[in-house]
Amino acid sequence: MKFNIAIDGPSAAGKSTIAKKLAKELGYAHLDTGAMYRCVAYFSKLKDVSFDDEEKVASLIDAMQIHFDAQGNVYLNDENVSNEIRKNEISMLTSKISAYPAVREKLVAMQQKMAEHKGYIMDGRDIGTVVLPNAEIKVYMVASVKARADRRYKEYVEKQIEADYDTIYKDIEQRDYQDMNRKTSPLKKADDAVEIDTSDMSIEEVVNTIRRLLPAEV
Ligand code: DC
Repeated sequence: MKFNIAIDGPSAAGKSTIAKKLAKELGYAHLDTGAMYRCVAYFSKLKDVSFDDEEKVASLIDAMQIHFDAQGNVYLNDENVSNEIRKNEISMLTSKISAYPAVREKLVAMQQKMAEHKGYIMDGRDIGTVVLPNAEIKVYMVASVKARADRRYKEYVEKQIEADYDTIYKDIEQRDYQDMNRKTSPLKKADDAVEIDTSDMSIEEVVNTIRRLLPAEV
């Protein structure tokens, strides 16, 4: 029997890396919902739509086809936008547009439809609370701001994306604040989620900790 697994937590806590590895080991599908919100911000910029116009931003979603390949690359209308959507400017804009109820409504509906067939590992901010409240396994992944800034900086350097450490650190703090304090679906731990602090854990340790939450037959 396949399960759905929800992984939520603040930005750069390691959710996508862990979800991707776990999905590979279990033969599950991985959906990085943050990438979907990032695509909306990226597309709004591309189409020169005002970021203050909630309805216009949300209406763009109807013209967007988002898909992922097996390596985790993100395609927006067949363009590989994997690196573009990770840039700092897009991260900040994403945090803004993801507060819009009209945007969330559309993306949540898409995500719920995908997970109708079980065997999904979804990571985001509202998976355990809103998107998949009945997910069999829920994880709330946290890490110190320093640990997260260190990881993001390393990731950017590896991907040759322009990066300034202090800006990354401050942006993480600001995005935490925005994500936790927005009115619609703020980032919070679901009552039945297991919290894992990944600050001093390796990727393998986190994956194994989650695997221990699964029943033996999974
Ligand atoms: O996980 P991430 O850093 O790629 O997410 C980018 C932004 O999208 C982040 O500011 C929060 C938002 N987001 C959200 O509101 N709900 C989700 N399910 C996933 C991401």
